[in-house]
This record gives sequence, C-alpha cells and structure tokens, in this order.
Amino acid sequence: MELLKQRIQRDGKVIGKDILKVDSFLNHQIDVQLLNEMGKEFKRMFKDEKITKILTVEASGIGISCITAQYFGVPVIFAKKTESKNLDGETYESEVYSFTRGKTYKIRVSKRYIGPEDRVLIIDDFLANGKAVLGLKDIIGKANALLVGVGIVIEKGFQEGGKILRSQGIRIHSLAIIKSMDSGKIEFEEDEF
Ligand code: G4P
Repeated sequence: MELLKQRIQRDGKVIGKDILKVDSFLNHQIDVQLLNEMGKEFKRMFKDEKITKILTVEASGIGISCITAQYFGVPVIFAKKTESKNLDGETYESEVYSFTRGKTYKIRVSKRYIGPEDRVLIIDDFLANGKAVLGLKDIIGKANALLVGVGIVIEKGFQEGGKILRSQGIRIHSLAIIKSMDSGKIEFEEDEF
C-alpha cells in the first residue's frame, strides 16, 4: 500500500537493527484517516471471503481492527492480556512468547463471543515472529471456529513470522512488507496485488 509505505519512510524510525517505531501514526498517536485507507484495503484484499468476526490482541491492534470492521459490518473481539474476574472459567486461552519483550504472556477470549459458526479474520499492526497470530489461531481452533485469513499492517519480512504462517497454509496479506532496514534504511518488498 503506497500511502502507508510513504508514511513509514517519512515518519518511521529504525531502532537498533529490527525495531521500527511508528508511534506518530500507528502505535501511540493514531492517524485515523490513514487507518481508514488501510481498512478499505483489507476489505479489498478479503472481499471474496465471508467473515463474521475480526479478532485481534490488545492494545495496538484494536484501532485498526475497529476501522476495518466497519467495512465488513462485523464485530471486533480483542484478546485480553490481563486476567479479569468476570472472564474466569469461561475463556479460551493461549500462551504467547514475545521476543520483543522477552517473556511469555497469556491471551484470552470469552467463550461467549466466538464459536463454531464463526469465520474469523485476524488483524494486527505488526508481524514479527508470528507468535501473537499463532496464539490467536490457537484460540480460534479451540472455539472450533474457522480462521479465514490474517491482515497485517506492517510485516517485517526479515523475521520469521510470515514464513511460518504461510507455510501453515494461512492466507495472509500485509499492507507493507519490510525487506530490510539495515543502517536505518528501510526497503520494502513489492506489493502482492
Ligand atoms: P510476534 O507476535 O510477531 O511474535 O512479535 P513480538 O512478540 O516480537 O512482538 C511483541 C509486540 O511488539 C507486539 O505488540 C508487536 O505488535 C510489537 N512489535 C513487534 N515488532 C515491532 C516493531 O518493529 N515496532 C513496533 N512498534 N512494534 C513491534 P504487543 O506486545 O501486542 O503490544 P501492544 O503495543 O499491542 O500493546
């Protein structure tokens, strides 16, 4: 997605060798108009699919998921990272290891909001090592729902996540795939379509 790639080039900051800071428009301050264009793009990419729910993880995935959901006319569920009393005993859970944070955390979704009738689109802001998406996929499986596909805003193509998910036959579309960001210079892969 050209508009997104231009914005990453303009405002993205490379931290170390593998972290891209985009908190001026995606992760902290949010450019809603840009997110709106991303939502339209996800709809275009998955227009041939019947989707009943969009699933993401709190926190950064929620904004883009809500905007995208308006184009599909479906609700958003965000997996929670914290325990909550009124969720106890009635949740599907999975464990996610975060390389960025160097620790494992649990994600959970209430059994009330996902079930065998659901055809689910996962949306997230970043794809790095793929662990968050695999955790969400695990929850979809436990609910006997169907994972239709995954929409990612920024995929870091030089990390393993994309390869792992595609090798599992998961349909995944990323709005921008970063090929490399060596010495602070960001290079993208060609758009898929
Ligand atoms: P993975 O899910 O693909 O395995 O990635 P990883 O555990 O490494 O990522 C952990 C968190 O860091 C995720 O956010 C992810 O979106 C974010 N992240 C990964 N790479 C980058 C990056 O290059 N830049 C930025 N800005 N974020 C990155 P999270 O833990 O779910 O936190 P939240 O911000 O959504 O609350």
